[in-house]
Amino acid sequence: MARSPSEPTSAGGPGKPLLAVLRGERRDPPPLWLMRQAGRYLAEYRALRQAKGSFLNLVYDSDSAANVTLQPLDRFPLDAAILFSDILIVPFAIGQNLTFVTGEGPRLTPPLISADIDSLKPVPGRLDPIYQTVRKVKASLSETVTLIGFAGAPWTVATYMVAGQGSRDQSDPRRLAYADRGRFGALIERIEEVTFDYLCGQVEAGAEALQLFDSWAGSLAPRQFEDWVIAPTARLVARLKDRYPDVPVIGFPKGAGGKIRAYAAETAVDAVGIDETVDPQWANAELPDDLPVQGNLDPLALLAGGETLVRDVRAILDAFAGRPHIFNLGHGILQDTPVEHVEQLVELVKGGE
Ligand code: CP3
Repeated sequence: MARSPSEPTSAGGPGKPLLAVLRGERRDPPPLWLMRQAGRYLAEYRALRQAKGSFLNLVYDSDSAANVTLQPLDRFPLDAAILFSDILIVPFAIGQNLTFVTGEGPRLTPPLISADIDSLKPVPGRLDPIYQTVRKVKASLSETVTLIGFAGAPWTVATYMVAGQGSRDQSDPRRLAYADRGRFGALIERIEEVTFDYLCGQVEAGAEALQLFDSWAGSLAPRQFEDWVIAPTARLVARLKDRYPDVPVIGFPKGAGGKIRAYAAETAVDAVGIDETVDPQWANAELPDDLPVQGNLDPLALLAGGETLVRDVRAILDAFAGRPHIFNLGHGILQDTPVEHVEQLVELVKGGE
């Protein structure tokens, strides 16, 4: 396999490989975790989820949520645990009602396309049980595993708050952002405030790195991308760095494509996550040499398994061999993914360890 001539560092022993890479070290093999690694592809998740009756019951029972967070670690030698919660806990704390309709996804009421944000009554206590989960996970984590806290980035959270649900092209929030910049900007700022508090709470409870999921970053025109993806993320990162200079932030602007370099440069995130539509060779050439990159196996390649998986994993390892790299999917793991394929992936990435 093509590795760059200078050897990757392993200063300080194994430690926490993910944190080492987020600080700019190269590791061979790279640390590995999977977006949505706790979830429905695991039978033990489905069992607990069913016992609790609903997704929110599971999230709000911190013993169960901690248990679910750790389930994938019991099966696979992953380098991170990601807090089991959801990006929509922030709108819930801002005062929208949140439900998950089986087979249809989340619903937030009232949708802000037809209601004013000032009509919502904030319920900040809805964040507290999540911090309990972080504390419980941290207490039982092995010393090589990094605990990742997360939130949705303001734009993506705003898309759900405005539409009241997921939408194919985010047209309601995009229209609102053009039609009433003042109102949309105020919404973004409110989300920023609560998200900052929420991430600080997670760090205080023991999160060692943070990821900002901007799942719908790909739907914006360039100037809108500057205003609603880059600018709010940059402000959040600056405030987090001011308070916690040693806690790395991973930005994941899904679908950003050619805007990824501007995103990385202007937000000052410590690492950038790239989705499966990006050619890893292109991303490697496009991004600064010392910037840690996370990604970007197609979740469908993992689902397919076999030769496709072997080929795609190698291509990603080769493309990023010369830089700090965190192996991950390009988006969340799909629920039909066979567990054996995840085992195969771990073997392919970590096999030589
Ligand atoms: O990665 C992890 O293992 C940690 C947990 C996590 C969840 N959601 C649990 C979850 C994380 C990091 C998220 C992030 C999230 N949630 C995002 C950003 C990442 C992405 O996928 O784009 C978004 C957009 C959401 C909003 C959300 N939550 C939707 C659209 C849905 C319904 C879709 C679905 O898969 O059913 C959820 C529910 C949800 N969040 C589930 C899980 C495990 C499934 C709920 C269930 O078990 O019924």
